[in-house]
Amino acid sequence: MLNEQTIQVIKSTVPVLEIHGTAITKRFYERLFTSHPELLNIFNHANQKQGRQQAALANAVYAAAVHIDKLEAIIPVVKQIAHKHRSLGVRPEHYPIVGEHLLGAIKEVLGDAATEEILQAWAEAYGVIADAFIGIEAQMYEQTEQQLGGWADFRAFKVDRKVKESDVITSFYLIPEDGKSIASFEPGQYISVRMSIPGEPNTHIRQYSLSDSPEKPYYRISVKQEVETRDKPAGHVSNYLHQEVKEGDVLWLSAPAGDFVLDQQDERPVVLISGGVGLTPMVSMLNTMVEKQPHRPVTFIHAAQHGKLHAMRESVEQLARIHPQLSAYWCYNQPTDLDKETNAHHREGYIDSKWLQSIVPTRDAGFYFCGPTPFMRAVNGILKEWGIPQSDIHFEFFGPASSLEPV
Ligand code: HEM
Repeated sequence: MLNEQTIQVIKSTVPVLEIHGTAITKRFYERLFTSHPELLNIFNHANQKQGRQQAALANAVYAAAVHIDKLEAIIPVVKQIAHKHRSLGVRPEHYPIVGEHLLGAIKEVLGDAATEEILQAWAEAYGVIADAFIGIEAQMYEQTEQQLGGWADFRAFKVDRKVKESDVITSFYLIPEDGKSIASFEPGQYISVRMSIPGEPNTHIRQYSLSDSPEKPYYRISVKQEVETRDKPAGHVSNYLHQEVKEGDVLWLSAPAGDFVLDQQDERPVVLISGGVGLTPMVSMLNTMVEKQPHRPVTFIHAAQHGKLHAMRESVEQLARIHPQLSAYWCYNQPTDLDKETNAHHREGYIDSKWLQSIVPTRDAGFYFCGPTPFMRAVNGILKEWGIPQSDIHFEFFGPASSLEPV
């Protein structure tokens, strides 16, 4: 454990490091990839380019440092990151490498301000934080490997079927090449896909939520083809999956992971709110509930730009026809003429507080939401304003976790 003196040094230097956080983590990654280019096979290059990962790592280290004398207070956050690490194949031997370059980057960026005492304190703190991660990840690796149908690292899966769900979303049904069983999962969890693209030196790893219920002979992921926009380049891996990966091809998957999961002990009603491709974990939760908790009332709310971008509409409507406990609502912000003519949607515009309260039968429910960050901020604000307790609000970010506070 760290002594009081070290804890004081850490706490007094967190604000300084926060100011230089982006510079430190940028330098850290440059150093890391120069001396360990093989780690480019693990890290998401697109997140790197957009600076998203830099911010996530810096924030996590500082958050951990602030709580350095009571790390157990941030166990939920550590667990969420540890799920991601386990899914990516991060191993204990990686930690000293990351530590060395993080410390090296702090020294370079702070210059003379980084005294021996400060560097020593941070080296010790990093050791404590790393040990917390390594311990939790070791348990996760063990559970994953011992679970029926589970496996370590990456396993070959064949694309059994490719099904177009909307103009931009396609589902991939994946079955293990070895023909053996596959691990069950909690609805809401994701898998990592490791992809080699011909002609490229490094592999790419991406996470995709599982979009069907567990206990099927396949895993289903539903991937949005990310086209280029003003602030984002085209999705390298999603475009490759859509355009080049064919039925019969092999994808490498790590076992299901993630802590954004449906609470199946809870018998109260559930409200599932999604925006765009954020519907994938929600459909997994929905399919699971109609199979396993058929008496549990579900309100399924999906926001899309218009009908052509609305995935899985048919299958959810089909469920709603046969399950009276399920109500489904569609909100389009740019409905097409056809949408308008056919009354395809229940609301035009965005989800707001009044509409939400008019369609959700009770606020004594579990609320789950997923979608683009601005959508999530809006939904979170609406739920807070309605007085939904934090313990009933569950959400998941795509990509590195971010903040739900209004900007
Ligand atoms: C993701 C923190 C060590 C590799 C993350 C995230 C955080 C984080 C906050 C983002 C989680 C999310 O997406 O929600 C930390 C901390 C570490 C640490 C505090 C040390 C104590 C490591 C090590 C490796 C590693 C040793 C392996 C070389 C990754 C990768 C991702 C990730 C590859 C996903 C990033 C991406 O692909 O964009 N980590 N991490 N991390 N971490 Fe770590």
